Amino acid sequence: MSGGRGVFIAFEGGEGAGKSTQARLLAEALRARGLIVVTTREPGGTPGAEAIRNLLLAPPGEAWTPEAEALLFAAARADHVANLIRPALARGVWVVCDRYVDSSRAYQGGAGGLGDAAIINLHAFGSGGLRPDKVILLEAEGEALTARLTARDGENTDAIGGRPANYHRAVAAAFRALAKADPHAFARVDAMGEPEEVHARVIEAVAPLLEGAG
Ligand code: TYD
Repeated sequence: MSGGRGVFIAFEGGEGAGKSTQARLLAEALRARGLIVVTTREPGGTPGAEAIRNLLLAPPGEAWTPEAEALLFAAARADHVANLIRPALARGVWVVCDRYVDSSRAYQGGAGGLGDAAIINLHAFGSGGLRPDKVILLEAEGEALTARLTARDGENTDAIGGRPANYHRAVAAAFRALAKADPHAFARVDAMGEPEEVHARVIEAVAPLLEGAG
């Protein structure tokens, strides 16, 4: 990709699907091919967006209204896109991001009831509508997730992770619907199994992007 634009890959999925692990393994595999890679996450990724992350995951006052929550995610993303993602892509760097706008579509738009159009509009306004080149949707079964999450978070869950099971079921259904509606944008990857097994599926999903790179 020397001289060209970098490639933008986002990992999506519910809580505990293994996104962070898979993002790290993918970044390592890409670097082993000689590519320059930055890994980042949402909400967060830049100092401004990390500050907004704290407001979202530990609201300092009353719970945010659904609208305020969506605006804060969009504001964090606008900063992240302007100050980290776009500059990296412009330098030819690959960007691997743990969650991106499809999380807002699934959580705030779907489970939160705001609808997809509102989220798309906020993303157009905040971030010029920047889309990943590929979204890897990690799909796992609800019960396996609950077990992984209890192991990971115990009682220390955050304002969104701690929402009731039916909210998280609605998130999973919304992700599925988004992926089905746009099979070119999304690669659905079975997140069950050992990290290395899942990683092999991820590599298969990004193989078309690797042709000619490195
Ligand atoms: P985090 O601990 O980073 O996620 P995970 O549980 O996947 O490790 O917390 C981020 C939380 O924010 C998570 O519950 C998903 C939620 N979220 C949204 O609701 N909308 C968004 O746009 C993003 C990026 C995250």
